[in-house]
Amino acid sequence: TAPLRLGIAGLGTVGVGVVKIIRQKANLLSLRTGRPVVITAVSARSKDKDRGVNLSDYAWEDDPVALATRDDVDVFVELMGGSDGPAKAATEAAIAAGKDVVTANKAMLAIHGQALAESAETAGKVIRFEAAVAGGIPVVKSLTEGLAGNDITRVMGVMNGTCNYILTRMENAGLPYDEVFAEADALGYLEADPNLDVGGIDAGHKLSLLASIAYGTKVAFDAVELEGIGRITIEDIHQAADMGYRIKLLGVAQMTGRGLEQRMTPCLVPADSPLGQLEGGTNMVVLEGDNVGQIVLRGAGAGEGPTASAVMSDVIEIARGTRLTTFGQPAATLEEARPAQSATP
Ligand code: NAP
Ligand code: HSE
Repeated sequence: TAPLRLGIAGLGTVGVGVVKIIRQKANLLSLRTGRPVVITAVSARSKDKDRGVNLSDYAWEDDPVALATRDDVDVFVELMGGSDGPAKAATEAAIAAGKDVVTANKAMLAIHGQALAESAETAGKVIRFEAAVAGGIPVVKSLTEGLAGNDITRVMGVMNGTCNYILTRMENAGLPYDEVFAEADALGYLEADPNLDVGGIDAGHKLSLLASIAYGTKVAFDAVELEGIGRITIEDIHQAADMGYRIKLLGVAQMTGRGLEQRMTPCLVPADSPLGQLEGGTNMVVLEGDNVGQIVLRGAGAGEGPTASAVMSDVIEIARGTRLTTFGQPAATLEEARPAQSATP
């Protein structure tokens, strides 16, 4: 059987993780997909950087667009990041050149996912993004596959590990926000623009993608009610604890009579609930369906192994020939999200 040939743009934390899995698990991947999964070409900013993995077997492209459009690439794997710029340009070029796309880029998808998905579908291609939401937790496939026989009644979750680390560390060590923020920075947990984390934007991007899948609506990141954790004090945390609660940056998406409600805000959750017991940089997503009831998914929302694991699940799905649509249904059929808050006088 013909191999599935990947072009990987971005060789940072996630890209290197994907290269390692493909190098280490070649036989397993062949067994599970019925065909070899190979890398033909890679791209990053700096060709000479030592990335701790052997890249000499692969062609190198300085330009991600050139990589995405190579004749020997079937699937463009976008792991550079950024909502616009090279990630978007190369993804568009890949679709135009007839490639399937796998990406972990929630920032790009929250803003351009609808248009990209429609272009991919018009071209008969797929764009898959399991790694973009909650890292290693297979939440996208849970919604599009495992729970496809349900009306989803609510999606909730802690989807930014950095914020959960900061909040739990403040509580457990009795430290003020500024001190723990500096600690998170020193540990390399924060995004290059920390406001993406602590401002709730990154988690809001993820929630908007899940809401679209769950409710068949167009991605509506602009309609997410957002509030970050920057104003939470240690006193707030102690007061909540005295009442048996913990403060979490919690996302909730549900369809109400007034439209689609999407909130990513600090919330009080009972300390003895699964969400209340979530420590450190871990993520948790709670899905509720009319037939299945409540499902709780907990795991690593970031890091080399967990995020590469999610990227590989998309690669494997494509290698097997499964042609699932991006949002669980064709993007062209998604309805305009009627944001609940705009209906409030
Ligand atoms: P990263 O470590 O910063 O790596 C980014 C890679 O992209 C680097 O190899 C960089 O090249 C390359 N790159 C950046 N701009 C480029 C350009 N203009 N042309 C070519 N290459 C370029 O990022 P990451 O943490 O792996 O994240 C990658 C994606 O996964 C992002 O969308 C991120 O949001 C998403 N994600 C990450 C995690 C995580 O745990 N890290 C979890 C979930 C999702 P150089 O190495 O040469 O600088
Ligand atoms: N900054 C993100 C987090 C990385 O802390 O969860 C994974 O998306």
